[in-house]
Amino acid sequence: MWPLSADRRNSWEENLIQHIEQDRSKHAVCRLNTALRLLAGVDVRVPSRAFPVFNLSRMHRALQMANSALNLSYSIASDRTIVSGSSLAYLTGELEYFSDRVIPRGIRYLAAKRPFFVVPGAPELSLQHEIGCDAVPKPRIHFSSQCVVIIAANYRGVPAVFRVGGCDESRSEVLRQCAGLRLAQSVACFQKLAPRSLSQVRTNSGLDLSIETAVPGVNAAFTWKRIDATLELCLTTGATNVLARALLADDVAQVCESFPEHRDSLLEIADALLGWHSDSHFSGYMVHGDLWLGNVLFLGNEVTGVVDWEWARRDGFRFVDALHLLFMSYSVCRNARIAETLRAFWTNTLQDLELNLRLLTLSRHFGFRHHDLKFAALVLWFNYLRERVVRGRMPSPSWSEDMLPRSIPVIKAWLSAYEKRGTSEATSGPRTERLSVSGL
Ligand SMILES: Nc1ncnc2c1ncn2[C@@H]1O[C@H](COP(=O)(O)OP(=O)(O)OP(=O)(O)O)[C@@H](O)[C@H]1O
Ligand SMILES: [Mg+2]
Repeated sequence: MWPLSADRRNSWEENLIQHIEQDRSKHAVCRLNTALRLLAGVDVRVPSRAFPVFNLSRMHRALQMANSALNLSYSIASDRTIVSGSSLAYLTGELEYFSDRVIPRGIRYLAAKRPFFVVPGAPELSLQHEIGCDAVPKPRIHFSSQCVVIIAANYRGVPAVFRVGGCDESRSEVLRQCAGLRLAQSVACFQKLAPRSLSQVRTNSGLDLSIETAVPGVNAAFTWKRIDATLELCLTTGATNVLARALLADDVAQVCESFPEHRDSLLEIADALLGWHSDSHFSGYMVHGDLWLGNVLFLGNEVTGVVDWEWARRDGFRFVDALHLLFMSYSVCRNARIAETLRAFWTNTLQDLELNLRLLTLSRHFGFRHHDLKFAALVLWFNYLRERVVRGRMPSPSWSEDMLPRSIPVIKAWLSAYEKRGTSEATSGPRTERLSVSGL
């Protein structure tokens, strides 16, 4: 067990967000409430039972359509706006809204079994009033995968992105995003690629709002060329003259205490990780914390922007950023779960030649010994769990199952193999981080 004083531990337990929610349906509706409030300028009733996040059943779809039919009857009044979206049923993607031809659109949506809402008011003016964006060009509304609503609109003539949070969780996320942007702007190599924070306020209706510049480029499909371009960027960023993750023990302790049913196993794994960390003395780097292709914008194969700085830090391991880039982009592109990819890595069963080549290059770049990259993957695994603890909820019961009971035995098996051969590795010389990234 690593050293963690009783005092520190007590303060942990007091400060910890104890409750890890299993059902996030409340947050799904919360996001929808926020979006409709922005468009209507008033609170709009959302039937929460019709919009769960997990297991959207026929019954839920029927409730969504019944609510839509009821909403259509409101469109007889003047100044109405119809709000829908191709994946509104699942609360993902973009929200569309129109103030013209409301009734014919409603009838068409009903026929296509696409849910919608009819709300009062002029949406562009409501948005302008609520968040201070320009009414022209027409603001675009996007559900983020978390509880925040993202709006792309001009702010005083400048293309900007607005993040709006209406509950405690999304407020915290908005604050973390702003702090992340400030960090990114403090490091020369990110100044051109990261958005600039323009404003952070609480609106009159109690929503937390951050405004940042829109960076150029678009989300682009997975290609190894784009991965390499991002990897190159990740490996040329500046050191911050601090020790990497000096408080790693606190962070992993927070995770161990948050999952009581797996606590003993987690403590055992954490112990091994902290032993490796205390032997390593890696220097800290400014890291993005969620660097994968979904958060990188491109023009062709050139990186033009990096967004979503919520988990940025100045004392990060940059090889963990690089590993996340590889594993998350690869998993999402192949529709695989991230825990599945991690398990394949720990059991040496990753089959993809291109991926293995990048892992090897990464290992060489950092002068790593055989197991170092696997410990780096362990840092990543704890990071994923910790982010959930900080948010106070898990993405889904199956995510938890995959991340914890299915992954823990694999990690333990790898650690026990490592411990058997560990002593010979420990004396095989220091790591030397190479300066060149050529070959990536
Ligand atoms: N500052 C910005 N400039 C340009 N585009 C942005 C900016 N911020 C966000 N975006 C766009 O919005 C998308 C979602 O933003 P972000 O990644 O911050 O949220 P998220 O919670 O990860 O959402 P999602 O789950 O939809 O990716 C980005 O992939 C990008 O296309
Ligand atoms: Mg993102």
